Amino acid sequence: MAIDKRKVVYQIYPKSFKDTTGSGTGDLNGVTEKLPYLKELGIDMIWLNPFYPSPQRDNGYDVADYTAVNPDFGTMADFEAMVARGKELGIDFMLDMVLNHCSTDHEWFQKALAGDEYYQDFFILRDEPTDWVSKFGGNAWAPFGDTGKYYLHLFDVTQADLNWRNPRVREELFKVVKFWQDKGVKGFRFDVINLIGKDEVLEDCPINDGKPAYTDRPITHDYLHELNQASFGQDDSFMTVGEMSATTVENCILYTAPEREELSMAFNFHHLKVDYQDGQKWTIMDFDFEALRSLFHTWGVGMSEGNGWNALFYNNHDQPRALNRFVDIKRFRNEGATMLAASIHLSRGTPYIYMGEEIGMIDPDYDSMADYVDVESLNAYQIMLDEGKTPEEAFKIIQAKSRDNSRIPMQWDASDNAGFTTGTPWLKAGKSYKEINVAKEKEGVIFTFYQDLIKLRKELPIIAEGDYQAAFSTHDKVYAFERFLNDDKLLVLNNFFAEDVELDIPEPYQGGQVLISNYDTASIGERLTLQPYQTLAILGQ
Ligand code: GLC
Repeated sequence: MAIDKRKVVYQIYPKSFKDTTGSGTGDLNGVTEKLPYLKELGIDMIWLNPFYPSPQRDNGYDVADYTAVNPDFGTMADFEAMVARGKELGIDFMLDMVLNHCSTDHEWFQKALAGDEYYQDFFILRDEPTDWVSKFGGNAWAPFGDTGKYYLHLFDVTQADLNWRNPRVREELFKVVKFWQDKGVKGFRFDVINLIGKDEVLEDCPINDGKPAYTDRPITHDYLHELNQASFGQDDSFMTVGEMSATTVENCILYTAPEREELSMAFNFHHLKVDYQDGQKWTIMDFDFEALRSLFHTWGVGMSEGNGWNALFYNNHDQPRALNRFVDIKRFRNEGATMLAASIHLSRGTPYIYMGEEIGMIDPDYDSMADYVDVESLNAYQIMLDEGKTPEEAFKIIQAKSRDNSRIPMQWDASDNAGFTTGTPWLKAGKSYKEINVAKEKEGVIFTFYQDLIKLRKELPIIAEGDYQAAFSTHDKVYAFERFLNDDKLLVLNNFFAEDVELDIPEPYQGGQVLISNYDTASIGERLTLQPYQTLAILGQ
């Protein structure tokens, strides 16, 4: 399975992208309407977050029916029209497959609850809970009706983990994957897929909330190989990405090395925990640059040497905007946004752009807890209060860390609700939309820089295919790497700070050609000054 490494993926959170009905919820027709805009940006594939029927406790990651369209988002005919229009424009679709768990509203769970033993074996039921902590807070087990048993839910109590050990569960889930494949989609993003393999005997695990007991278990690789062979593995042009929770380089090489026939690439999140105090999300801390740099180097080099493949990203629907985390946005939003973009688009792996990133969208800056709807944020707020934080302290943390930060309506123009809806949006628009919106930014610095980066990846094999090596690997301000392909070499320098940095340029790059930069840069001599948040890519000789 060799994927096309020139491709760039754009992620759409359909609920917040474009509402064509005035319901306040984005819809599939909204995606279709905006395809020409994405064509102009230059992307190849759209990853759509879940749009299946769901009680929306976790915004669609609680799937109640895997093979239908939630009427709030449109119809199956809308879906088919969207895919067909995409094909005309050369844009394919990647769907989100949430196969680790399903909603407790799903008929499998309902039948199980009603006493059907066949479906009880679809879930992970035990007489005694373990001490594992749910990722959304509290114990990960809940009473299974009045049977005296408990079912496992690594996420919300309404998201019951599926029992992959049961071959009939795998068969059903593979059918789901085939169903969408037959509808013409060309990619899948598998939600928390490294959690599907649970051991036969489940035991208490006091380390790290129990994560080692269910993360990256060896049998997961067998399941992914089986899934691959049962569905997309036959199609060479297919692109799959696994969302890997708390994973390792070693496992991601196994998940993604082509000869293993598991997945095409993997998301890991280590680089997005560098502003977590003591590894805890619900804290506030400036980002630790050296940790970020060394994680990028470890993953870049490790995956390159092991023939694995990274999915490269800073933003998604679960993360606050990278601009708020890594950049002095009051002074350097354009420079910071373009530098961050180059630092992944010129690296080894497949770049993902999260909607709004291409215009430099930032967090909404809400004023009150009443503006937040995300289940994880609401739980976390309550837990922080219970632990003794004041409402002000807890709110400040939610403001910085909530997943709603990225889920706000896409900012199309300066009209009401950012041009997202004519109704009342399900989640309030961000405060910045009058200044930051597509209408204003489309000819602007950030959007055009993304266009250039996407073009370069298509034109220069060294960007798509080259090996990765760390450069300036102990520098305290600059994240730099080299790419190599045959006799070509490329050096990419990224200044992560709002200040000038002096650098000695390695010999092969002195007099080299500037491939791209977010500042005007004349010739490359022995020494140069990187300006605040400057990115500079130099072809060597
Ligand atoms: C993934 C999704 C997230 C969801 C969780 C449970 O991390 O990205 O949004 O809440 O899985 O499905």
